[in-house]
Amino acid sequence: MSETETPIRGLGHSVRRKEDDRFLRGRGNYVDDLQLPGMLHMALLRSPLAHARITAIDVEAAKAHPGVVAVVTGRDLDAHGLAWMPTLSGDTQAVLALDKVVFQGQEVAAVVAEDPYVASDALELIDVDYDPLPPVVDPHKALEPDAPLIREDKQGQTSNHINHWEKGDRDATERAFATADKVVRVETFYPRSHPAPLETCGCVADVDPATGKATIYMTSQAPHAHRTLFALVAGLPEQNIRIVSPDIGGGFGNKVPIYPGYVVATVASLLLGRPVKWVEDRTENLISTGFARDYHMTGEVALSGDGKIMGLRSKVVADHGAFNAAAQPTKTPAGLFHIFTGSYDVPAAFCEVDAVYTNKAPGGIAYRCSFRVTEASFLIERLMQKAATELDIDPAELRRRNFIRPEQFPYHSVVGWVYDSGEYQRALDLALEQLGYEELRREQRERFARGELMGIGIASFTEVVGAGHGADYDIAGLRMFDSAELRVHPTGKAILKLGVKAQGQGHETTFAQIVAAELGIQPEDVAVMEGDTDNTPYGLGTYASRSTPVGGAATAMVARKLREKATRIAAHLLEVAEEDIEYAEGRFAVRGAPDRAKTIQDVAFAAYTNLPEGMEAGLEGVTYYDPPNMTFPFGTYCVVVDIDKGTGVWKVRKMVAVDDCGVRINPMIVEGQIHGGLAEGFAIAAMQQISFDEDGNCIGQNFTDYLLPTSWETPKFETHATVTPSPHHPIGAKGVGESATVGSPAAYVNAVLDALAPLGITNIDMPVTSDKVWAAMHEKGFV
Ligand code: CDP
Repeated sequence: MSETETPIRGLGHSVRRKEDDRFLRGRGNYVDDLQLPGMLHMALLRSPLAHARITAIDVEAAKAHPGVVAVVTGRDLDAHGLAWMPTLSGDTQAVLALDKVVFQGQEVAAVVAEDPYVASDALELIDVDYDPLPPVVDPHKALEPDAPLIREDKQGQTSNHINHWEKGDRDATERAFATADKVVRVETFYPRSHPAPLETCGCVADVDPATGKATIYMTSQAPHAHRTLFALVAGLPEQNIRIVSPDIGGGFGNKVPIYPGYVVATVASLLLGRPVKWVEDRTENLISTGFARDYHMTGEVALSGDGKIMGLRSKVVADHGAFNAAAQPTKTPAGLFHIFTGSYDVPAAFCEVDAVYTNKAPGGIAYRCSFRVTEASFLIERLMQKAATELDIDPAELRRRNFIRPEQFPYHSVVGWVYDSGEYQRALDLALEQLGYEELRREQRERFARGELMGIGIASFTEVVGAGHGADYDIAGLRMFDSAELRVHPTGKAILKLGVKAQGQGHETTFAQIVAAELGIQPEDVAVMEGDTDNTPYGLGTYASRSTPVGGAATAMVARKLREKATRIAAHLLEVAEEDIEYAEGRFAVRGAPDRAKTIQDVAFAAYTNLPEGMEAGLEGVTYYDPPNMTFPFGTYCVVVDIDKGTGVWKVRKMVAVDDCGVRINPMIVEGQIHGGLAEGFAIAAMQQISFDEDGNCIGQNFTDYLLPTSWETPKFETHATVTPSPHHPIGAKGVGESATVGSPAAYVNAVLDALAPLGITNIDMPVTSDKVWAAMHEKGFV
């Protein structure tokens, strides 16, 4: 490369996000921006009660209201066989309630009107008679024999138990516990939380009465899977369904499930012959769409006297709400919870999870984590903290003694994972060094002697991201592969079409960088297209940090396919044998004569103008990539807190995050992803939960009750990286999007409990509010 040439900005370049130009100028194109000719607006009536029979619904006044075009109830849908829809977990969910409601906020009726305000106003004219039933709020009580049965609609369902799932070796684990020197137990609750994306869910359904083609613009993280599910549910021919997912203002798993609103809007458009828009408001989003967590967990670790883990077990009661709509791979109904052995070499482990119906909104989504990995990571890291306290071993040292060592990779865990690569101690040591750990421990002792409380929390985590492999992981039967289609135009510019779909992660930039790395076309010359099922190859979508490991791999593979053809064309242009061509940085040069070369742009032009005899024209291809294994990003987070003795208020003095997601395609974007996760981790640890009163009323229906951290509360983060590539991944990248949410909550909670350990306080459930801290200190006579 001559000095005047610009280097190809492939992997490792913090290329500015291409998509931000339109986002920052207010030129994004979201579902609610869409205006179609003749478009109607839909609003949903929701149940005010958590559990009640519906004895009558009177819609006459609403129908008569000026501007109202139609009012739809469950009975109307039932007439078309559409009153129930399948969930992602194979349960059935009422589209609009028929005889009874089973959670507050459940969809009961819909009004379609000429104007969105008219639709909302007319909801108040619908008269529903409810006959209240006792609500079941506590999942443990839901399992009691005399608990009211929530799902009377399900044939053969005689209790509120949904399913039991277990993994590991129960007997071997019991033997390990029987011979242990020490058993440490943590009972904890990871509260229900909500992704609360900036943009709520919605759609515009446009069924063309002339052609029967249904175009559904929707906030979808998985447009292709949604198309297939629509075809199966509605019986529409799949070629006549087009899902378009325009710009999305945050998903975080919330836009993976299919919600009743999408179905009703589509049916309304089909019956009325006009486009129908439905966009939920903030409260609707918080009370009715996919929540996350809600895991009641008991964990036990068996240890030898010198702190080596001998066994690990856990028992979980998972609150799934009134319909089992958890977005989980089919064969693992508790997601990937069995990664609960974390970063440690555990010789025996066993976990069991019982899922339960309660009178709450359905969900169980991969919110900023790979399916249920956050819960698993929280449990093991809380156990490590408590074990360190009880064995009086430094928490960092206890981790060191138990980490899977670098030479053990690929590491086969006792619960069936094959960890691809990791250097856990390196990440921990870097975090401790950046924190100034030894000095802080000294300071902590001195402060405690003066009656002051300060804590240092550690959490080392391993995520597991990039689902498939397709034979093991599927959603509703659809194997979890992903795809990329790449087309290089005659002028050397390209378009890349993907099966994944960004919701703010910057795919238009990073996936173009992968093409740049493989073919030498600069990222700005590669347009990236996602989210239109008529114009992109089939894929399972973006959630659980799978885009880079799976869609990114597909991109590298398709680019390599094109490079092979480009090499043959270059050989033809340079009149040498194919074996004599060397590729580097967008140039195909004759081996030993680097000045005799053709650029990718020369080759692309030749692909349409000057081909070797018998070769097909064009430079394009498609790859469907089924990953042989997941990737296992990891890291260590450390938090230092000071606790005010008088009030229980804890403040983060320092937060150091070390992440390892293998090769970083765009370090700036990775940093942004980590910052988002760290902010969420802090929120859940400190202030945030969706809770319910004893009547099943949702507390957290708006942002004055459900607290989002602003820059005011959010602590400053110091981020650092180690790089341990994934050996089986074409570019060595591991997913990263959500690791920070997986690792950080335990780091914050451990910090507070580290400070309180000398007082004998070893557990406080999240959110760890100042009230709870103060009450615990008060109980111990410290204040
Ligand atoms: O599936 P999702 O896009 O949410 O998560 P991801 O694949 O972990 O990636 C989030 C963003 O970070 C994407 O823009 C990735 O391309 C980028 N990333 C990266 O630059 N390097 C990595 N090793 C992993 C992700």
